[in-house]
Amino acid sequence: MQVLDGKALAQAIKEELKEEVDAIRQAAGKIPHLAAVLIGENPASQVYVRNKVSSCEEVGFRSSLIRRPESITQSELLAIVTELNEDPDVDGFIVQLPLPKHIDEDAVNLAIDPRKDVDGFTPVNIGRMTLGLDAYLPATPNGIMVMLERYGIETSGKEVVVLGRSNIVGTPMTVLLSRKSSPGNATVTLCHSRTRDLKSHTLRADIIVAAIGIPEMVTADMVKEGAVIIDVGINRVDDASRNRGYRLAGDADYAGLKHKVSAMTPVPGGVGPMTVVSLLMNTLQASKRRG
Ligand code: GUN
Repeated sequence: MQVLDGKALAQAIKEELKEEVDAIRQAAGKIPHLAAVLIGENPASQVYVRNKVSSCEEVGFRSSLIRRPESITQSELLAIVTELNEDPDVDGFIVQLPLPKHIDEDAVNLAIDPRKDVDGFTPVNIGRMTLGLDAYLPATPNGIMVMLERYGIETSGKEVVVLGRSNIVGTPMTVLLSRKSSPGNATVTLCHSRTRDLKSHTLRADIIVAAIGIPEMVTADMVKEGAVIIDVGINRVDDASRNRGYRLAGDADYAGLKHKVSAMTPVPGGVGPMTVVSLLMNTLQASKRRG
């Protein structure tokens, strides 16, 4: 089985980005600047945002972290979004999800200027992506597309099953994989919590993208010999034998699948680092556009 090493690939792409940023700096051009908004103390979100900010530093971007407590009001958060929309120093920004329950995520998303939406979550970018127009592509699905391309995994004419219909992973993944491009041209089935006989779908799949958030749910009996598994899940599973009291598990049963599949992403070190790189690529694009 080939391990689809997102960590190593992300590192290689970061080197490429760094070279480009160095060249921009030497030409006395503007350095890309990403801002990240983190609300509350969600432990996983803190790790993700820390990775995003430190990756900016690695490639020579500027980054700003705006942290606010869980108790922030919706209008206070919307005011931060407006400020970032208008800040000429900021090329792109993200508001890390999930947000506290009392905040309307849709309202926050709708307030983001699509030109600074480097997460690719706003209706304008999702619409443009769906129409095949130039757009900021959502970071995780785009990171997976880059990974498929760089590892030379053929998608044209293949049966792909996407598990999970979230706005930020499953749904945009189906758009990117089915469109007329390379990678793309796949026949895509989107499965979700109401899908009947899930196994009948997964057993037909040449490629499975698992983004459901249920630890180790995709097991060997559900998968055909030689399939490719892209595991988006990062689940914390209680584990008293670890110092921190938990281990990270994907949505796929890595140990059970590794002798049956032809290629698979590990968790951690698979899709996660590709998401971050994709965000950096969008930020560089935003900076270039703004000139
Ligand atoms: N929460 C989980 N994934 C993401 C992401 O890609 N962007 C943001 N903003 N929040 C997330």
